[in-house]
Amino acid sequence: MFIIQELIHFYLLPILMALFFYINLIKWKRKRLNLPPGSAAGWPFVGDTFSYLKPHPATTIGQFMEQHVSRYGKIYRSNLFGEPTIVSADAELNRFILQNEGKVFECSYPKSIGGILGKWSMLVLVGEMHREMRMISLNFMSNVRLRSHLLPEVERHTLLVLRSWPESSPFSAQEEAKKFTFNLMAKNIMSMNPNEAETEKLRLEYITFMKGVISAPLNFPGTPYWKALKSRSNILKVIEQKMEERIRDKEEREEEEDLLGWALQHSNLSKEQILDLLLSLLFAGHETSSMALALAIFFLQASPEAVRQLRAEHGGIAQRRKERGETRLSWEDYRQMEFTQCVINETLRLGNVVRFVHRKVLRDVQYKGYDIPCGWKILPVFAAVHLDSAVYDQPHTFDPWRWQSTTTASTNNFMPYGGGPRLCAGSELAKLEMAVFLHYLVLSYRWELAESDEAFASPFVEFRRGLPIKVYSLHQDPSSEVGGD
Ligand code: HEM
Ligand SMILES: *[C@@H]1O[C@H](CO)[C@@H](O)[C@H](O)[C@H]1NC(C)=O
Ligand SMILES: *[C@@H]1O[C@H](CO)[C@@H](O)[C@H](O)[C@H]1NC(C)=O
Repeated sequence: MFIIQELIHFYLLPILMALFFYINLIKWKRKRLNLPPGSAAGWPFVGDTFSYLKPHPATTIGQFMEQHVSRYGKIYRSNLFGEPTIVSADAELNRFILQNEGKVFECSYPKSIGGILGKWSMLVLVGEMHREMRMISLNFMSNVRLRSHLLPEVERHTLLVLRSWPESSPFSAQEEAKKFTFNLMAKNIMSMNPNEAETEKLRLEYITFMKGVISAPLNFPGTPYWKALKSRSNILKVIEQKMEERIRDKEEREEEEDLLGWALQHSNLSKEQILDLLLSLLFAGHETSSMALALAIFFLQASPEAVRQLRAEHGGIAQRRKERGETRLSWEDYRQMEFTQCVINETLRLGNVVRFVHRKVLRDVQYKGYDIPCGWKILPVFAAVHLDSAVYDQPHTFDPWRWQSTTTASTNNFMPYGGGPRLCAGSELAKLEMAVFLHYLVLSYRWELAESDEAFASPFVEFRRGLPIKVYSLHQDPSSEVGGD
C-alpha cells in the first residue's frame, strides 16, 4: 500500500510532471516567449537536480553552475526539483526577486521542508500569517532585547563552550559551534539549560531531524525523511510538554523571559502554531550561525594577519573594560568591534552559508528581455554574486580588509541574509553571536587544524570531517582571560 503510494509519488508523478513540462515548453516556445536559455538535459523526472546539488567546495559555485553560467549567461533555465526553474546568478535580478516578494514572486520551498518544519513554519508561510509570525520573531530579537538580554546570554554560552575545550588534543570545531548556537537558542526559546539531560537529548534528536530536511521526501521506514518526521514528533513532544507546564503553573510562575512565554502571553497563536514557530526558529537560528562560526574559525586559521589584527582589536577592548573595572562585555564594547565585522562579512561572502533561496513566479514578468512565466520556480543564487569577479576583486581570497573601504556595489550585492520582506529575522543576533565568540576565542586560544578539512555545499554547508582543531591556551591560567566571573 505504502510502497505503491510512494511509487506513484516519486516515480509516476514526477514523470507526469516532466511530460507536462515538456509539452508546456513546446507551447511556451510556440507562444514565442523569449525564455532564458538553458538545457533540457538531465533525467526527465529530476532534471538537473542531482548535478545541481552535487557537493562542491563551499567557496565555489560548483562545476555544474559554472558551466551553465559560462554557456548560457547569468540567467538560465533548468529543470530542478521536478519543476521548470529559472536560476539567477544576476545581482540585479536577485534584488528584484527579493524586493517583489508577495507581488511578483513568492517564497516556495520544496514539500519536504514543509513536511518537516511544519505548515506553520515561517519558512513556509506566506501573506498575512507570515507577517504575524515575523513580527513575533522580530520583537523577540529587537535591539532592546539584544542589548539587555541576548548579549549577556551569548557571552555566557560562549564562555561555557570555550571553557570546556581540551588543550592540544583534537576536537570538532563544527560540533562545538553547533552546541553553542543550539544551547543559546534552546535557552532563549524555551528556557532549557545547557548540559541538562533533556537539552542534550533534544539536541541529538535535532541532528536526525536536520538530516531529513536535506533528504528526498521518501516516507517509508528507514529513510532519512521518515526518521526526521519521527524526530519532529519527538521534538514537538518536548516543546509541548514545556508549553503545558507553563499553562498549568501560570499562577505560581514568574513570567519567563523566553519566546514560549512571550508567544503564550502576547499572541493569539494556537498551540500548533506556536510549536511550529519555535521549531522553525530553532532550525533557522541554529544551523546557520554555527556554520558561519565554523567557517570563520577555518578561514582565520589560514590568515594569521587577520588573527593578529583581531587580537589587537579585542585586546584593546578587554584592556579598557578592565580599566573600568568591569568583567562583562557591554554594548559599547560590542560596537567597537569594527574589524570583527569585516571578518564576519568576509566569512559570509566567501563561505555562503545560505547559498540560494526558493521562490516561485506569481505572474508573467519580463526581465532584461527575457520572459519569466507565471508558475515557474526561480532561485536567486546569492553565492554566485558573492563569488563573481565582476563584483569582488579576487573573489576566492579571504580578505576581510576589503570591507574597510566598501563601495555601493560591494554592499548592494552582498545578501547573505536575503532581503526584502523576508530578510533574515536573526541577522543582528547572528552578528552578535559571532563577534562575542570571536572576542573570547582570539583572546583565549591559538588554534590550528588537527587534520586538513574543507567545507562542502550540497546545498547545506558542512565540513567533511567536522573541522578538527587543536587549541593552545594563550595564558597560564585560562580562566583569568576566558572571562573569570
Ligand atoms: C549567519 C547566520 C545566518 C544566515 C546566513 C541567515 C540567512 C537567512 C536567509 C538568507 C534568510 C531568508 C530565507 C528566504 O528568504 O527564503 C533567513 C531567514 C530567516 N532567518 Fe536567518 N540567517 C542566519 C541566522 C539566523 C539566526 C541566528 C536566526 C535567529 C533565530 C535566524 C532566523 C531567521 C528567520 C526567523 C528567518 C525567516 C524570516 C522570514 O521569513 O520573514 N537566522 N536567514
Ligand atoms: C487577538 O485577538 C483579539 C480578538 O480577536 C484581538 O482584539 C487582538 O488584537 C489580537 N491580538 C493579537 C496580538 O493579535
Ligand atoms: C557588512 O555587510 C553589511 C550588509 O549586510 C553592511 O551593511 C555593512 O556595512 C558591512 N560591514 C562592513 C564592516 O563593511
